[in-house]
Amino acid sequence: MTTQNLPGQPQLAYRGDTLFLEQIRLSDLAKAHGTPLFVYSKASMLAALAAYQRGFSGRDVEICYAMKANPALGVIEVFVQAGCGFDIVSGGDLDRVLAAGGRADKVIFSGVGKTRAEMRQALNAGIACFNVESEAELEVLNEVALSMGLRAPMSLRVNPNVDPQTHPYISTGLKSSKFGVAHERVVPTYQRAAALPGIKVVGIDCHIGSQITQEEPYLDTVDRMLDLVEEVERCAIPIHHIDFGGGLGIDYNGDTPPDAAQLWKKLLHKLDARGFGARRLMVEPGRSLVGNAGVCLSEVLYLKPGDQKNFCIIDAAMNDLPRPAMYQAYHQIVALDARPVSSAATWEVVGPVCESGDWIGHDRTLDVKPGELLAVLSAGAYCMSMASNYNSRGRAAEVLVDGDQSHLIRRRETIADQMRQEALTRPGHGR
Ligand code: LLP
Repeated sequence: MTTQNLPGQPQLAYRGDTLFLEQIRLSDLAKAHGTPLFVYSKASMLAALAAYQRGFSGRDVEICYAMKANPALGVIEVFVQAGCGFDIVSGGDLDRVLAAGGRADKVIFSGVGKTRAEMRQALNAGIACFNVESEAELEVLNEVALSMGLRAPMSLRVNPNVDPQTHPYISTGLKSSKFGVAHERVVPTYQRAAALPGIKVVGIDCHIGSQITQEEPYLDTVDRMLDLVEEVERCAIPIHHIDFGGGLGIDYNGDTPPDAAQLWKKLLHKLDARGFGARRLMVEPGRSLVGNAGVCLSEVLYLKPGDQKNFCIIDAAMNDLPRPAMYQAYHQIVALDARPVSSAATWEVVGPVCESGDWIGHDRTLDVKPGELLAVLSAGAYCMSMASNYNSRGRAAEVLVDGDQSHLIRRRETIADQMRQEALTRPGHGR
């Protein structure tokens, strides 16, 4: 039997005509758990992490998985066991890390809108660092920490004003974006932070965007960050760690992002050349650790050929896979059973949601029939984490594959799950 790997998808391969993830036949999982179904490969995640570990080998580094990409407990657990830290953006994220067995002192907290309650929760837990995103937030963090008799470890998220050359919705390091503190305010903000009794300056950080496929934005960012560290340290404020954020892209459709190991080796040369080689470093990768470790399995419900367009209606929709509707994103779609093509046509692959924007793929050449199973690829990042209940659709189930084992890490959401938090206005009526 021939084995054919899919480009950019390390653990996904056809054995004969049948699609496998690691040692598991995907159609068996679809039969056992129903569709839509997200399936993730543990080996893929660990291989992606290993590229970062190779790039940083011998360095003092904390690789903080940006769990917004995929916050499933079973996914976090993989990174806990691999020794990672975590980049969180809410109190809920922190609860998930702790529930998955992670340590609070390996957690850093990003985001422009942390609430006082979230600050208290994170201080109580003893997280490693708050990535502060504004001068106003700094003052509130100081107050909250003082009210608890604590000092909050803090790093300033600076806006390096670098164009990451990616989709505008996921560019974050430009001056016009809501994120981080502008370059010219960085030194005064550190001076203020150093004077606040409830704040302990520990680092500096940045994050310029997501799905970055070139190395230049990173090279520019490193220079600008090191310039800032020098400026801040000239004011006698030591910066213990430098955090370069996340953002490295993946191959969705022939994209050629730099390999994490190569990229970091190159960036570390720059740090060495400027005398920062021994500094503690952090990174916050999300998509590049999990994106191509996951697929979403879906069944073809109906075919609706037409004069202008042929529609292939599948049981996964924009509530499960929001990236095409939100960012015009491309995800490859392949059949689980790749028997020789007999009557391929070009299809608009769409979901059942009542919106014209509910499309998963345009103009896809597929040989499909109702009942057939498809896999939407590169679905490990920013799919389930952005899924919704639109049209009262329950969120999909999730399975983690590890060699020849598969684990259901999230059962399918039922309508009872959805309605549990709701109430009627008339006492005694309804549920
Ligand atoms: N650190 C911070 C502060 C971030 O805001 C993000 C992502 C990351 C790290 C991780 O970035 P990554 O390595 O995953 O690129 N929903 C969009 C992506 C939004 C990214 C938001 N921030 C998408 O589906 O493309």
